[in-house]
Amino acid sequence: MFNDRSTPLSLLSTRRSGKPRDLIAPGPDDAQLEQILEIAARTPDHGKLAPWRFVIVPADKRARLAEVITAAYRAERPQAARLEIEALEQFATQAPTLVVVLSSPKVDSHIPLWEQQLSAGAAGMNLLHAAHALGFAGGWLTGWAAYSDAVRDAFGAEPERVAGFIFLGTPVKQLEERPRPDLQKIISNWQG
Ligand SMILES: Cc1cc2nc3c(=O)[nH]c(=O)nc-3n(C[C@H](O)[C@H](O)[C@H](O)COP(=O)(O)O)c2cc1C
Repeated sequence: MFNDRSTPLSLLSTRRSGKPRDLIAPGPDDAQLEQILEIAARTPDHGKLAPWRFVIVPADKRARLAEVITAAYRAERPQAARLEIEALEQFATQAPTLVVVLSSPKVDSHIPLWEQQLSAGAAGMNLLHAAHALGFAGGWLTGWAAYSDAVRDAFGAEPERVAGFIFLGTPVKQLEERPRPDLQKIISNWQG
């Protein structure tokens, strides 16, 4: 089911996330990743502010990212258990490709911050669709690291925020559907 990319609608209706820890090589090559990010940047954006940016963490920098994240965690929680540290190392090093999506709001703009942050979320969604269109799966994680100022500072600066760590690759096994919202509960006709 999740391989049917034959029409625009089947492409959209078959995308689903892969668990980053279950994503293996191949990930997108450089040209494919550029294409994915070009599509991610085609995102509705009130005021043409491009209030987001994408930081690729190359394979040879993943160990360094693990050091940054674990150092930040230890600074905040000096009593951190070994298992917690190992989980963070695994987080930083999983999946072949990693793009950090940063919300990068322009604070001098009259466009509300909320709208700029929404646009960053939409860019992440577009990125996932583009990856799917190219035959890859993606997984969007935040976790502890996305809320650490020290980790954020490794990629950008206040008022930027990590919108997500988006991991890309090839699913190690067939993806399964997950329960979807009951449309009756989320769609209504306005009664005035
Ligand atoms: C902003 C954001 C942050 C997320 N952070 C996490 C996370 O830290 N851990 C997690 O297990 N899932 C997280 N998820 C959910 C996963 O991406 C999840 O696998 C996905 O939503 C599955 O749905 P899908 O198949 O429709 O993509 C996050 C989703 C979003 C939109």
